Order: sequence, then structure tokens, then C-alpha cells
Amino acid sequence: MSDKKKMTIFDFQKYKDEGKKFTYVTAYDYTMASIIDQSETEVILVGDSLGMIMLGYSGTTPVTMEEMIPHVRSVVKGAPNTFVIGDMPFGAYHESKEQAIHNAVRMYKETGCDCIKMEGGVEMAETIEAIVKVGIPVMGHIGLTPQTAGSLGGFKVQGGTPERAAKLIEDAKRLEEAGVFSMVVECVPKGVAKKLTETIKVPILGIGAGPYVDCQVLVTQDMLDMYGDFTPKFVKHFAHIRQEMIKGLNLFHEETLNGTFPSNEYSFNAKVEGYEVDE
Ligand code: KIV
Repeated sequence: MSDKKKMTIFDFQKYKDEGKKFTYVTAYDYTMASIIDQSETEVILVGDSLGMIMLGYSGTTPVTMEEMIPHVRSVVKGAPNTFVIGDMPFGAYHESKEQAIHNAVRMYKETGCDCIKMEGGVEMAETIEAIVKVGIPVMGHIGLTPQTAGSLGGFKVQGGTPERAAKLIEDAKRLEEAGVFSMVVECVPKGVAKKLTETIKVPILGIGAGPYVDCQVLVTQDMLDMYGDFTPKFVKHFAHIRQEMIKGLNLFHEETLNGTFPSNEYSFNAKVEGYEVDE
């Protein structure tokens, strides 16, 4: 039994107020969630990055509610002691406030996640406010917003001029007014992220945002070197799991071909009359 205790949204604020850092990674399935649950990690995001990592899409834009919900549910089951975020996919909250509330309620109610996450700044604030009023905790996401990366000119660092940095601060302030309890800030220069962290009262959860934020976020398959397609500049490989897995698979292949697997240790050895084997 783990003595790890699941964070609440109030703990996010407490950590920030006490200057205590924490970590936040992704999971999309039960097994990975249960591994993360055994670690010291405080927060799991079931991100719409599942589009790339699990479904092989080239981005997050095509991901649907129907694809997200079973994954969020399986992570919630696998990580009972870790705070789990259900990411709202593109198109699930953009048509109207009613549509956004409908899908936010689905995500929260059908999966048992602890909060939802939505991308967007000033333009999304009224919708976020409406969802918060329903009683669903919302985490914001500004800076590089992968769902709308096309309109940002691609997967690029955001807030790279004084005007753009000021717009990010405006976005963050408006989200805070709308009632988010924390917000992800993705791919921004570290000085801009520092200013955001000092200016905004709720925790700033940084991915590619340098060291001065309240919490560090990474995609698990990136940081453990599992996803082979692309490694962003801000990702450090803390382990090399892909190579370990290939090594294990090749050993299985080799031992199968040379007959050392399965030995008696891995076989049912009961003698059955008429079915004896020469050993
Ligand atoms: O979907 C995701 O993995 C994310 C992280 C990049 C924060 O939104």
C-alpha cells in the first residue's frame, strides 16, 4: 500500500504559496498510470497528445471526446493516489457555451477525473467561466496551444517579443479571473514564464517554460525516451525505455529461436500418460 495522498485543487495553491515544486506527466492507459501512481509524481494529464503518442496522428486536432473518454477512465482506475486531468479535445468546447458545458460534464462525470484542461486565453475565458460555475475545476493552457498550432504558425516558442509576452500575461490574467485553479504555460522564454509565475496568483505549470515556474510538466513517453518520432528541445531523457524494450523484445526473439525459452521454469511440466516428452 502506497502512503501517497492525492492532491486536491487547494494543494496546488498551497504548493505555490509555500514555494514547493511538483511534477506533472502524461498517461493514457491503466498500466502506465499505475506505474506513475507508484512514483512521487503528483499529477497525471491524460492529454490529447494521445492523438500522436497512442493513435499515431500527426497532431492533436483530430482527437475526439469518444477517443479521450475511455483513456481518461482507464488512467483514473490505474492511479487512485494521483491527481488526474482530463484534457478537452479540439472542437469539444468551441461551438457554444452550452456545447462546452455538455462536454465538460461528460468528461468529468463519465471518467471520474479530478479536473478538465482547456486550451486558449482571452477568447476562451467566458466559456471557462461558465464551466467553473457548473462546479467543474478547470486548468487553463496558454502559450503554445497545440490544438490551434496552425494559427500560431506551427509548433513554435510563444511570447518571444515584448508585445507577445504582454498578450500572454493578459491571457493569464483573464483566465485567472475566469476561475481556473492553475494553468499550463507551454513553450515560452524562461524570463516571460518567470514574470507570469510572479504576476499570476494561481500555479503556473510549465512545459518548455524554463525553471522559474511552479511545476514542471513533461510528456512521459518523451521524458522516458519511448516515443521515437520527435524530441522537442525542452525534453530531457531521464531514462531510455525504448531501447530497453527493443532489447527485451530481441532477447525474447533470440531465446525462442535458439530454444532456451521456454525452459521448464516457464512450462507446465505435469506428466500426462501418452503425452510424454523426451528431455
Ligand atoms: O496533451 C498534452 O500532452 C498537453 C501537454 C503538452 C501539457 O497538453
